[in-house]
Amino acid sequence: MTDVLKQQVTEGFTAHFGYSPSGVWSAPGRVNLIGEHTDYNEGFVFPFAINRRTFAAVALRTDAVVRVASSFAQSVVELPLDQIRRDAVTGWSAYPLGVAWAMQQLGGATGTGFDCYIESDVPVGAGLSSSAAIECAVAVALNDLWEANLDRRTLARVGQLAENEIVGAPTGIMDQSASLLGELDHGVFLDCRDLSAQVIDLGFAREGLELLIIDTKVEHRHADGGYASRRAACELGAATMGVGSLRDLTVADLPRAKELLDELTYRRVRHVVTENDRVVETVRVLREQGPTAIGKLLYASHESMRDDFEISVDELDTAVETALQHGAIGARMTGGGFGGAAIALTPVAKISEVTLAVLAEFEALGYAKPDIFVVSAAPGAHAE
Ligand code: GLA
Repeated sequence: MTDVLKQQVTEGFTAHFGYSPSGVWSAPGRVNLIGEHTDYNEGFVFPFAINRRTFAAVALRTDAVVRVASSFAQSVVELPLDQIRRDAVTGWSAYPLGVAWAMQQLGGATGTGFDCYIESDVPVGAGLSSSAAIECAVAVALNDLWEANLDRRTLARVGQLAENEIVGAPTGIMDQSASLLGELDHGVFLDCRDLSAQVIDLGFAREGLELLIIDTKVEHRHADGGYASRRAACELGAATMGVGSLRDLTVADLPRAKELLDELTYRRVRHVVTENDRVVETVRVLREQGPTAIGKLLYASHESMRDDFEISVDELDTAVETALQHGAIGARMTGGGFGGAAIALTPVAKISEVTLAVLAEFEALGYAKPDIFVVSAAPGAHAE
């Protein structure tokens, strides 16, 4: 697949712009194993880069114009570098253009325009960060072509800044970090306070496990209100508790939080505080006992998101419960919530049983047909 996309992206570039690109760069989508809505609270996350990638064929121009095109949209979008603003861009082009803008803010730009063509096999709207994959592919390309020498943490901030300021989604730093720091068969244990990261051997294949993605096809968008309102509740909770971020609270603070906070804000805070614990615990258990022992933590995370953070939907709950009933050792919704995908850590021998059971249950309940597939941990963004 990789070779096909790499060839297609080069051909697409040439067909749209009439000359050959100077190179191809790629970046993966990500799945979050555990640690949801903790990133913007300076907490812990444990995602991994997946074997679905976005490819960007890029060449510098001699003027200051940017042109972007892709296999998933008809037209070429063209804009001078210095005119990239939130209200000047729409749709998917906000991601590559936003990165060009953000690189200028974080000191990586030369003012030279570029042409960029994009191809991707990261499913869109599934909670697998198709947007971060575009951002990171373009970021590593521009970092090379502009000779910006920004390190990977700064490139992650470039992607986040593009998303926050140009796309208009108030998301955290997890997705871009996973896409940039991922390694084959490893998860990225990231402390979102200082962006220090450790790559941790997942050992799924060794233990006969695979990670199943159940894309519910319920569309989610982080530029919509649900994500922002959760973030606002976390900020209110931290301010009321007198801390800079929820990272500064532990479960020992929860009784006091219960007294000080309104009931809803308390539950939002409880999710984040307990989720941070679950991430640290997952990494510990994975190291000491291997992946077959992390199932309970994955499900506890799901319950917390369903009941305290209230970001699950019926389709995600059904996917999780059905997968567990049919042999998955752990399952949870993943990503920002309100739709997208669930993950199910499943013994290889149970993959088809879980898949068929989820398909049947969705059909019986009249839900849209989910997309179900396996992902593995892949390398992060790089030049091809
Ligand atoms: C989205 C955001 C991330 C993170 C997750 C929730 O994927 O882009 O920054 O907040 O939601 O964990």
